[in-house]
Amino acid sequence: MTISSEFKQRRKHLMRRMKKRSLALIAAAPAARRNRDAEYPYRQNSDFYYLTGFNEPDAVAVFIPGREQGEFILFCREYDETMAIWTGRHAGLDGAREQFGADEAHPIGKLDEVLPSLMDGRERLYYPLGDEGLRSRISTILAALRERARAGVRPPSALIDLDGLVHEMRLFKSPAELASMRRAMEVSAAAHRRAMRICRPGLREYEIEAELLHEFTRQGLRSPAYSSIVAGGNNACVLHYIHNEDVLQDGDLLLIDAGAECDNYAADITRTFPVNGRFTAPQRQLYELVLDAQAAAIASIRPGRRWNEPHEAAVQVLTKGLVKLGLLRGRVAKLIHDEAYKKFYMHRTGHWLGMDVHDVGDYKAGDDWRVLEPGMVLTVEPGLYVSESCADVEEHWRGIGIRIEDDVLVTEKGCEVLTAAVPKSVADIEALMRAEM
Ligand code: GLY
Ligand code: MN
Ligand code: MN
Repeated sequence: MTISSEFKQRRKHLMRRMKKRSLALIAAAPAARRNRDAEYPYRQNSDFYYLTGFNEPDAVAVFIPGREQGEFILFCREYDETMAIWTGRHAGLDGAREQFGADEAHPIGKLDEVLPSLMDGRERLYYPLGDEGLRSRISTILAALRERARAGVRPPSALIDLDGLVHEMRLFKSPAELASMRRAMEVSAAAHRRAMRICRPGLREYEIEAELLHEFTRQGLRSPAYSSIVAGGNNACVLHYIHNEDVLQDGDLLLIDAGAECDNYAADITRTFPVNGRFTAPQRQLYELVLDAQAAAIASIRPGRRWNEPHEAAVQVLTKGLVKLGLLRGRVAKLIHDEAYKKFYMHRTGHWLGMDVHDVGDYKAGDDWRVLEPGMVLTVEPGLYVSESCADVEEHWRGIGIRIEDDVLVTEKGCEVLTAAVPKSVADIEALMRAEM
């Protein structure tokens, strides 16, 4: 399947799910200003990209199922010689039709002029209700159309959130999406292995971050999917630590949570390993507990199981282990009921993964946790965090933060760990770190 036929399939699928006599609108992400006239690297809105493959700002896509003159209309920037010289490639109206499969293309400046005629006679309008810019534009157009009711103009009367339809589609990954995800994960795994090999006491956290980015970039993946967390020692107890400036200390652990983005799809991997290549006894005890919790969570993933089951499996193992190690006291069932484990494990065990690192898709169906189905991708990332400031635990546990995170595809028979190429047993990590570079 060519890339553009993949996007065409998705549009067809969306239009089949839309109600009769409706149309849908979605806008591209605007270019984001960093400061004065410098911009952040452009990143398309994930839903817009999912439906169009179009990677430019200043665009609006319109989908009108059953429209005879064409169902996919793209408003975008016209081709401009000067812009081509200053900022380079852009599709223009011809490109919108020829490369991106639009049935019709119009200059973005004509949106307010053309849209009313596209809306006329359509009863329902889908758009992302959270898009404030689009909302105010649409309400102005609808108000103008209502004024022309006596001339026979019939504007849509129902506004429906487009997110629900698109996010449900995005939750199930196609073979093309999985190929992009596998590539993001393969490169991210190479970056984590590189970091393990290079790590030693005395380096700064950002030197390790640079190694990760080097591996992503040299393999053609130009952006991380989120800010990399490179957290030595106690910094690992700060869940979203991204300062990445401190010196790595002999005897500490290093937690790295980093993933590359490929075709706008994220990898999301965490590994925790000793800065000097050898776990101390307490580090090892906590590490193996997290690893056991992760194994139990992964073992609970298969079609028919519910979303919460991996989390509950991890909490069970962690709580039991914390009691055994003397970090918690009491009966396991009561400690779980009272959520006593949250002192050391304060986040959940995973999230959907896709174009957004914390991807879209419902976690519940009605009041119940959602049932897992083939094609869903989720992370499994239990952890334990015993901060330096935990005065009521024995000193040798303090300043240890551990998370182990893999990306998992639900398959017909069970699941596949997509990020198994990064070592995670104590023996495999120590062996890789001993190996000559
Ligand atoms: N990197 C963010 C997360 O693991 O959820
Ligand atoms: Mn992560
Ligand atoms: Mn994650």
